[in-house]
Amino acid sequence: MAKPTLWLRCEKKEFERRAALTPTTSKQLIDAGFDIVVERDEQRIFEDAEYEAVGCKLVDNNSWPTAPVTTPIIGLKELPESTDPLPHTHIQFAHCFKKQGGWSKVLSRFHRGGGTLYDLEFLNDENGRRVAAFGFHAGFAGAAAGALALASRRSGEDLGLLTPFENEDAMVSKVKELLGGSGKGVKALVIGALGRCGRGAVDLFRKIGLDEDDILKWDLAETAKGGPFPEILDVDIFVNCIYLTSKIPSFVTREQIIEAGKLRRLSVVVDVSCDTTNPFNPIPIYNINTTFDKPTVPVDVGGQNPPLSVISIDHLPTLLPREASEQFSADLLPSLLEFPNRQTARVWTDAEKLFREKLAEAAKVEGL
Ligand SMILES: NC(=O)c1ccc[n+]([C@@H]2O[C@H](COP(=O)([O-])OP(=O)(O)OC[C@H]3O[C@@H](n4cnc5c(N)ncnc54)[C@H](O)[C@@H]3O)[C@@H](O)[C@H]2O)c1
Repeated sequence: MAKPTLWLRCEKKEFERRAALTPTTSKQLIDAGFDIVVERDEQRIFEDAEYEAVGCKLVDNNSWPTAPVTTPIIGLKELPESTDPLPHTHIQFAHCFKKQGGWSKVLSRFHRGGGTLYDLEFLNDENGRRVAAFGFHAGFAGAAAGALALASRRSGEDLGLLTPFENEDAMVSKVKELLGGSGKGVKALVIGALGRCGRGAVDLFRKIGLDEDDILKWDLAETAKGGPFPEILDVDIFVNCIYLTSKIPSFVTREQIIEAGKLRRLSVVVDVSCDTTNPFNPIPIYNINTTFDKPTVPVDVGGQNPPLSVISIDHLPTLLPREASEQFSADLLPSLLEFPNRQTARVWTDAEKLFREKLAEAAKVEGL
């Protein structure tokens, strides 16, 4: 019988250096009897040679359309826009199940090609929790970006271009260096501290040297009294990491910021949750997503008050591609090992059922 195979495609999205399979998880799959085909990719944080060394078969960049149609293709982000039919099975984040812009066009490519899409965002365990998510490193990188913005602010500047770090140590060292050797003395508040992103943010603050008492960790119990919260104005960096599900009172408002005047300590807000355009956004002091080349947006604080900026980047784990990929891929591995039994393995049958439902909706919309 032919060995189960996975084909790791290249990523085409700008700045995306992460990978769905790492050399570590590729080796584990090979040891379990898989063939792993890897497209050469200069953009990826892992060297082609690292995959070759563990027994992967290297093929040309972006050659997956020529792969046998029975070979499943695994990647991370969306495929470049096109109208080409998709006959393969794809495992990836496709961002088209929640009726995002262009959703029906993307799905119509699968309809016309007869392919199947397993969306990584919708692979859930028996409790409905994602089997693999990037939250921890989103929080970690978000907190680091916040600390870098604070360091810039202390020098009277705005934070400039952010580029992915080679690894976590490089990120931690850079942040400490720019804060004058350590983050000691900085005070931070993390809301949603018990979640994936929140735990990552707390971890970064510990690693750059904040005193434990200077890392305020709030979750549902602490916000139950209802905002706005004056405590937010009393820290240097506020990181929001909640999973927003319904309308809640604002955590912080512009009126409150203006009223605090020059007494405000708060210098940077990092909105990891990034519910920027959600009408229930509990941080209604900004309204755009920021980017790696312009990471901060200023808040209108009124008069001569000290500046305040918001970081609202919605793809933060990209800043830490190596560790983020390793963690995500390791969490995904048990499900990938079950992939050859996808006709019966619950995680995959549930994901395929969802795909079929969305495909039918898209076909209607597209008149197919
Ligand atoms: N910016 C990015 O790059 C990026 C990357 C990954 C995830 N995210 C987003 O971050 C958010 C959190 O994701 P996660 O995986 O950490 O979720 P999670 O479910 O693991 O954690 C969310 C936490 O928020 C807490 N929470 C919910 N409502 C709260 C409230 N009103 N007050 C206080 N705490 C509250 C929960 O109790 C939980 O501990 C999501 O919106 C996700 O889409 C952003």
